[in-house]
Amino acid sequence: MTDNIDTVFVVDFGAQYAQLIARRVRELNVYSEIVPHRITAAEVARRKPVAIIMSGGPKSVHVDGAPSLDPAIYDLGIPILGICYGVQLIAQQLPGGEVGRGMRGEYGRAQLTVTDPASQLLAGLPAEQDVWMSHFDAVVQAPTGFIATASTPDAPVAALECADRKIWGVQFHPEVVHSPYGMQVLRRFLHDLAGCQPTWTMTSVIDDQIAAVRAQVGEHRVICGLSGGVDSAVAAALVHRAIGSQLTCVYVDTGLMRKNESDQVVETFRRNMGIELIHVDSGQRFFERLAGVTEPEAKRKIIGELFVRIFEENVGGLTDALFLVQGTLYPDVIESGGSDGTASVIKSHHNVGGLPEDMTLKLVEPLRSLFKDEVRRLGTELGLPDEIVWRQPFPGPGLGVRIIGEVTPERVAILQEADFIVREEIRLAGLEREIWQAFAVLADIRSVGVMGDERTYAHPIIIRAVTSDDAMTADWARLPYDLLERMASRIINEVAGINRVVYDITSKPPGTIEWE
Ligand code: XMP
Repeated sequence: MTDNIDTVFVVDFGAQYAQLIARRVRELNVYSEIVPHRITAAEVARRKPVAIIMSGGPKSVHVDGAPSLDPAIYDLGIPILGICYGVQLIAQQLPGGEVGRGMRGEYGRAQLTVTDPASQLLAGLPAEQDVWMSHFDAVVQAPTGFIATASTPDAPVAALECADRKIWGVQFHPEVVHSPYGMQVLRRFLHDLAGCQPTWTMTSVIDDQIAAVRAQVGEHRVICGLSGGVDSAVAAALVHRAIGSQLTCVYVDTGLMRKNESDQVVETFRRNMGIELIHVDSGQRFFERLAGVTEPEAKRKIIGELFVRIFEENVGGLTDALFLVQGTLYPDVIESGGSDGTASVIKSHHNVGGLPEDMTLKLVEPLRSLFKDEVRRLGTELGLPDEIVWRQPFPGPGLGVRIIGEVTPERVAILQEADFIVREEIRLAGLEREIWQAFAVLADIRSVGVMGDERTYAHPIIIRAVTSDDAMTADWARLPYDLLERMASRIINEVAGINRVVYDITSKPPGTIEWE
């Protein structure tokens, strides 16, 4: 996707600082890609980015083995912006510059003073402004030919610039929201100083991907497995827009989906979008295989294997199919080595809706260059409903891992009702987009209660609601008491078989988000 559009390289110096910068660049309508810091000047010259941003990083430039940049890159004439570690590296690598040692460091908000009115980068911004800092070392001397244009109490050279060499740098983090003028600094660099065209929009992504998909698949049939989740839904909608009836979607309904979810998939894709959809209603087969199974990993394995088998049974007849659509996203690409593994590797659970291993289909991955928030915007642009575009992450094994103990149709029905109430109340409280996941878990224990004049001995529902950025860590959501109360009383009144509701106040770690 990068060969014919203006691309900014964001050089990764570790610890995922690069991803946020890359997203911010895209918010300014310029396409960005994360590249490893070991990239050579020859490679950069070949791929011709319109600008380069050197990201922050967790190390000190003074330690042995600290990541650096091929110095010949500074001589290519490509506009460069260094941020935090990036600016320190500029000062260290170019003659005359110096990075201090053993300084006090600044963490959090700091007051930036623009010290030179000739600054190009900070032109038009207030002479005094808040910025977000996170550094120990700092530049104490700008390289020869550079001017220092700003300072903070503990960073004597908080911005440095050399218009002739087209190199600029800031010690603060313009990419975080706590730097109120940060986006203006990035905009100034990208649009004005580097001359990047702000032409990258969701419409341009759709146009580019339509052309790419058509070129890749020609006249052949393409299969897409729908999971009910955002990524496969958006990928399917995009591919359908490119090749229409050459696309066949397969939805393996495990019977372990949330209430109304399967109807909604069918409604959206078959009726509203006119996509050819094979809906395989296979709950019965899953329940038969799951009978008597209580161990979480055994359940996962059974569900995963049966899913793949049923998927294969249903695409086996599509003998003319050569391609399979996958909803791979950009973070998966970076994390599987796209950026040389400098950033710590984070791998999410593989999705059960994934690809059968021995299938010989070629992959179509139209979302490979997009971040999750961009996929959501794309989905909306393609006309998908909010219920799909803003759907919470949902585990491939579905409600199977939210029923502690044996999975039976009756238990699934109970959990579907309780889970529906939890999600509906979250939505009515307007908290849907603040909460990473909110759901119900059905526990395999019973407790005594009293309802009316009757003694009850029934199962509890556990409410789980967490905030998170990436599911690697999570905090339990501080839901308002009255919201919890509404959920609890509705669940007890409306869901037969439940006589108690508890709220899970465990963060991750030590807990996981799911209960199994
Ligand atoms: P945990 O429970 O490990 O979950 O904190 C982290 C995220 O992954 C989802 N999850 C799964 N997704 N197959 C999946 O596709 C699975 O087996 C699975 N288990 C957990 C979970 O919902 C959360 O978003």
